[in-house]
Amino acid sequence: MTRIFVLNGVNLGTLGTRRPEVYGTTTLDEIERLVHEEFPNLDLEFRQTDFEGEMVGFIKEAADSDGLVINAGAWTHYSYALHDALEAMDVAKVEVHISNVHSREEWRRVSVISPAVDAAVAGMGVYGYVAAVGYLVERFGRRE
Ligand code: DQA
Repeated sequence: MTRIFVLNGVNLGTLGTRRPEVYGTTTLDEIERLVHEEFPNLDLEFRQTDFEGEMVGFIKEAADSDGLVINAGAWTHYSYALHDALEAMDVAKVEVHISNVHSREEWRRVSVISPAVDAAVAGMGVYGYVAAVGYLVERFGRRE
């Protein structure tokens, strides 16, 4: 069975009510359900944390999986710790942003984790999670 980790960082637990004009009204639980429905045969580890060190632990746990999707929230823009944790892992990795970070504030255009991942999705709303998982399943999923 293909095992994929979907990791969500700081403040993403408040999706649904947090700035709905930017992030929409879908909650993180609903995103998890959506991904489950799209990929029912996947062994999905869906997590969220507001603690950077805990996120480093989640990333390390994903080391023996078939792929990792990460929305690091604001950590994206400054966390060299997450960059280094991701860089150390020999697993396919996709960075996801619900909003189009390139069309917002200047500081959101910088991702310090991008050099450590294989692909990035931004601005597709919650569908970005489906797109990212779909890419990993298609490219790196197990056939059996
Ligand atoms: C985000 C974009 C980040 O800039 C922001 O800090 C978030 C969410 C997104 O999904 O669009 O928390 O990663």
